[in-house]
Parts: sequence; structure tokens; C-alpha cells
Amino acid sequence: MAKQGSTGMNDAGLYVRFNGMQAKGAEESMEEFSSYFKWGKAEKILDVGCGPGDVTSNILRSYIPDDAKLIGGDISREMVEYATSNFKSDQIMYRILDIENVSWETELEKSYHKIFSFYCFHWIQNQKLAVKNLFRLLKPDGQLFLVFLSKSAVFELYKHLKKNPNWAPYMQDVDNYISIYHNSLDPAEEFKQLLVNHGFTDVKVINQWKSYHFDSLDQLTEAILAVNPFIKRIPEDLLPAYKDDIEKFARQNITQKDGRVETKYRLIVACAAK
Ligand SMILES: C[S@@+](CC[C@H](N)C(=O)[O-])C[C@H]1O[C@@H](n2cnc3c(N)ncnc32)[C@H](O)[C@@H]1O
Repeated sequence: MAKQGSTGMNDAGLYVRFNGMQAKGAEESMEEFSSYFKWGKAEKILDVGCGPGDVTSNILRSYIPDDAKLIGGDISREMVEYATSNFKSDQIMYRILDIENVSWETELEKSYHKIFSFYCFHWIQNQKLAVKNLFRLLKPDGQLFLVFLSKSAVFELYKHLKKNPNWAPYMQDVDNYISIYHNSLDPAEEFKQLLVNHGFTDVKVINQWKSYHFDSLDQLTEAILAVNPFIKRIPEDLLPAYKDDIEKFARQNITQKDGRVETKYRLIVACAAK
């Protein structure tokens, strides 16, 4: 089953409520790499896979100059509509963009001074095409900054659920939703080669292990549900059992201390220039 213009992760309101881990990760990465960006006058900036727009507007916005324009692009119409209703401003607008399938009739080559992307590229199966498109969208001397998951218990959860005959019919395309770097020993090196092979310069890519503490197992389960692309396919009467299986897996695969729940995950953080 192809993704067909949507990732399935469409409940923007739910995602905004439970994306604390992603928002914290984006903030920490911007803080750590802020000195890397060289700003010019009236820059045009793209945030690929902006989702509901809160990270674009609340975090990325605070690191860019006031005279820059920020465009959030996302494959999901619902995300773009939510972002436009809740986080549009004089400086920020949102529109549909599939980075694997850019429509060059409406999208101009070499139009962005900077391209950012947070927690999106693990959804991208055709990494070569996406990287090629990033290169085409950037202006000469433009800068790229990507942060995305390369390993996560959530990917193990998807594989585990697909083995269950109750859920297998709804998860046939599970591989489309697992980072292609999940089993890689050195994803940073692989991604670096991809960027270099597509013409990027000054390439720096690191593997970064992180941990995040949820206040409770319930909160972790909600966060997992908020990014689960299969949930919309599960018939309503089977949803409680599906959620129970997610909670069971979460309980068996996390560390709990004083009621708080720790998850560990590995990121790729990449900077490059054109
Ligand atoms: C986990 S959310 C991250 C949202 C936001 N950047 C954040 O950090 O909270 C991933 C987003 O990537 C979008 N996405 C997935 N594949 C995409 C593609 N091919 N092109 C553009 N956006 C895509 C999804 O629709 C989703 O909104």
C-alpha cells in the first residue's frame, strides 16, 4: 500500500498534545547548533514535515531573524490546515509539500536560503530522492539542518504488532513506517555519504542517543498513539484491544522509576551546505 499523499499520521490536535519529546529534541538541537547558521537579509526558510506547526512557530521561529519568511511544508492536508488555523502569522505560512514527490510546477528550484526538518525523515523511504529534492530546493550557499529518528522502540513495536494475526491485515506496509536506519550500525556515516553524493558540502552528521521521561505509562502510550499511522485503519470495535497491546509492549520495554517512564532513542542530526 503506497502512502498516497498522506502519512496516516493525521490527528494534528492529538499530536500537538503529546509531542513533548519531539519539541524538546528540536529545541535542544537548535540550541546546540545555532552558531552553525549564517544569516543574511530577508531569508526564505522551509521547514519540511512541519506537522501541526507548533515546533515551526514556537521553536524554529525563535532562532530566525525577524525579516526572514518561514514556510512550513507537510504532506498531510490535515496537518497543514491545523497549522494554518493555529500557527500562521505575518512571518509564517504553511502549505502542502511531499519531499519525496515535489511538484515542480508549483515549487521553484533554488528558492530557499535554509531548509530545516525535525522528526520527519524517518518516514521517508526514498531517501535519495528526498535528499536530491532538498538540494534542488536550496539556493547556492544555502544551509540544511535535519533531525530525525534512526532507532526507536516504536519501530520495534510496529514489527511486534504486525506479528499478531489480529493486527497484521492493517499493517501490511509496516516497513514504510520504520526508519531505514533502524538496524544500521552507523546511520550518521550512511546519511553523510548520501548528502555528499548528492552534492552537499561542509557535511557534518552525528548519531545522538537521547532519553526522554514521560510522567506516566499512560502519557507514553498516548504519545505512541499520536504518531501511530495504522490507528485510522483499525475498526472501532477492535481499538481498545489494539491500544491494550500497545500499552503491554510499552510496559515490557521501558524503564520505570518513581512512576516516571524513560525511553531511549537514537537521532541523526545533520548539517550541510550547498
Ligand atoms: C512526527 S511529525 C513531526 C512534526 C514536527 N516537525 C515536529 O517536530 O513536531 C512528522 C511529519 O512529517 C510529515 N511527513 C511525512 N512524510 C512526509 C513527506 N514525504 N513530505 C513532507 N512531510 C512528510 C508527516 O505528515 C508529519 O506531519
